[in-house]
Amino acid sequence: MVDSTLPLLLRGYTWLPERRRRSGGAPVRTRLLGKKAIALHGPAAVRFFYDEKHIHRRGALPQPVIDTLFGSGAVHTLDGEAHRTRKALFTGLLTTPSGVQELARLVHEELERASVRWARCESVVLFDELARVLTSAVHSWAGVPLTDDDRARTARDLVAMVDGFATVGPRHLTARRARGRLEARLADLVEAARGSGAPAAGGADDPTVFEAITAHREADGSLLPPHTAAVELLNVLRPTVAITWFGVFAAHALHRRPELRERLAAEAGPEFAWAFAQEVRRFYPFAPFVGGLAAERLEWAGRTIAPGTLVLLDLFGLDHDPDLWPEPRRFDPSRFLSGEVPADALVPQGGGPPDGHRCPGEDITVAILATVARFLAQLPYQVAEQDLRISLRRVPTAPRSGFVIRDVTGAA
Ligand code: HEM
Repeated sequence: MVDSTLPLLLRGYTWLPERRRRSGGAPVRTRLLGKKAIALHGPAAVRFFYDEKHIHRRGALPQPVIDTLFGSGAVHTLDGEAHRTRKALFTGLLTTPSGVQELARLVHEELERASVRWARCESVVLFDELARVLTSAVHSWAGVPLTDDDRARTARDLVAMVDGFATVGPRHLTARRARGRLEARLADLVEAARGSGAPAAGGADDPTVFEAITAHREADGSLLPPHTAAVELLNVLRPTVAITWFGVFAAHALHRRPELRERLAAEAGPEFAWAFAQEVRRFYPFAPFVGGLAAERLEWAGRTIAPGTLVLLDLFGLDHDPDLWPEPRRFDPSRFLSGEVPADALVPQGGGPPDGHRCPGEDITVAILATVARFLAQLPYQVAEQDLRISLRRVPTAPRSGFVIRDVTGAA
């Protein structure tokens, strides 16, 4: 079987849907990085994939992805009891409604502050601005110190780790260096907090993310080594800053559909902003697929999957499947106005039960995205002349200009 690593790198988001079309909808069999692979599609495949008896994560992720995006020893790479204990730390910290609301409030505050500055500039690159806004907000929310001088550099490093995970070459090297810098700084902070015996070492009633990760004990009762604690802190900071990509997509949708912008600005309740945020997550490309290894000999759709096969779950394809989403290429928040999210169909951040490998940051993502979208809808600005095409061959993608806005005439 021919290896598809190069076509995947070259074709990005279009690789798997094209292969699926050529296979007449049957699971795509191929090789990636020399490993036998099969790609599954559909809501039933989501349930199958997220059954931990079927799929293991240990050894599944290519080292270049671990070295940039997730970090060595990250929750993403664990299985069984070790995963359950570590995952409970994340779900406990990231999914309480009051915590999510507080983070969204901090984002709003930072947006207001930033927009005062934008009004004094001829033009600003929205991508860079949002990355700095989210970097400030998530650091103060998580209790991780960040000076004004460090802010722009840290934002650049957090963005670089996401931007460079799916490529070889300069972007990848930049991502590795960024991870190295941030891990070292955070591991030092963890060691210093433990050394000082402050609440960071345990005992706080309502711990910050930093305190909770610093004091977290593994299934065997041991503290996380400082490097692993740094990796997991980054697994909160980095993906929150990654919402920058969705924020720029929200601006793109508001620009393309001015009537939605007016409605978003005018609606007093949160329902439309929530539906808009869900549609941004569905419509725009971010994670193309997730992968794991077949834990044993599996049967899927009449096909045998040998143990150790790399099993991919098609995320981008599922979010655009016409059987699940009528007119999938139409941006239409009204799909979500009922307040319902169809189970196992909307999977931009993976799927399955919350104690599996499902992303624990979905509530945060939707809350921040709704905040950013509504803020932008109410902010008077012009969109500069620029190429706003979004390439489906680059992973992750965004308009190359970063979305330049000008003539911001005042804070919303
Ligand atoms: C896992 C995407 C935001 C924390 C994941 C996975 C994807 C994903 C595809 C893998 C699911 C799997 O392995 O099956 C995204 C996207 C985001 C986002 C596109 C928005 C830009 C967040 C946020 C946080 C977060 C805001 C935390 C504040 C995590 C963690 C995991 C994860 C800790 C690992 C879960 C596990 O393996 O058990 N995310 N995510 N993510 N995400 Fe997110």
